[in-house]
Amino acid sequence: MSSSMAQELLGTSFQNPVLLAAGTCGFGEEIAEVVELDRLGGLVTKSVTLEPRLGNPAPRVAEFRAGMVNSVGLANPGAHEVRKRKLPWLRERMVRARVLVSVAGHTPDEFVRVVEILDDADGFQAYEINLSCPNDTRRGGLAFALDPDAAARVLEGVRRRTERPLVAKLAPNTPDFGPVIRALEGAGVDGFTLVNTLPGLVLDPETGEPALGAGAGGMSGPAIRAVGVHAVWSAAAHTRLPLLGVGGIAEGQDAVQYLMAGASLVQMGSASFWDPRSSGRVVNWLDAAVRRRGLDHVRALVGSARLERKKPQEPGPE
Ligand code: SIN
Repeated sequence: MSSSMAQELLGTSFQNPVLLAAGTCGFGEEIAEVVELDRLGGLVTKSVTLEPRLGNPAPRVAEFRAGMVNSVGLANPGAHEVRKRKLPWLRERMVRARVLVSVAGHTPDEFVRVVEILDDADGFQAYEINLSCPNDTRRGGLAFALDPDAAARVLEGVRRRTERPLVAKLAPNTPDFGPVIRALEGAGVDGFTLVNTLPGLVLDPETGEPALGAGAGGMSGPAIRAVGVHAVWSAAAHTRLPLLGVGGIAEGQDAVQYLMAGASLVQMGSASFWDPRSSGRVVNWLDAAVRRRGLDHVRALVGSARLERKKPQEPGPE
């Protein structure tokens, strides 16, 4: 792979801009037989919570024509087990690829305690703070990312406990990214991932039963690609921090749209379920596209969308 694919951000170097998204690759080990992980830019682990979680009732995933819905319920072995059994594997096997540990919790304190347990271990470079899980309703159904003050409280707590880079994962159903981005920048965030899944519901048209054991879930796949690309482009108007784009990327042409909208890295999720080799193909496609377009570096694509930002309209006379 050519050096024109490397991206420097979050205090480290990613050998290429293609990562696997949280919740789609476990802790790496689960998919190592079918994906050449160390050829990728990196991966984001399944979200880690303070206590082990068994997750939501089955079925946890259901496909529909334009994508899939999931309500896994943040199933994971808990922070202590991740430190003991998952991080050593990642440290050994992810030599060139980078690792972001996703962190989730019901309260700001739970996020902080996960970070306290993991922080002095090896095997990862940064945290992705999951402020936007649509399936975790203990807070009353509102994700932290939809409440800028609550999101900032999480970030402030975590920021005090770690010097590692912190990337905040935001929600696609955010009406205006300005307030949450400003609140998180004030709290010391280092970058943003856009976007998590979009709340969705699939019903059996005969019985009215939900397709998922938990009822509603988070929608991903091709159906949310345009939402994700738009979210990255909208967020880029509010921040100079690095953006990581995710949602519906299955091909190189999808990834390049996220880069053009302003993302420095992309993450692939649902597509890896359908075809575990798709991430490797996207890496190859981007590498070839950079050369075919006569560019020096993949970063020349970042923010290259030819789209004017409209200024908000002044209210006219009544
Ligand atoms: C889940 O585990 O239910 C999904 C996590 C997420 O979307 O953040």
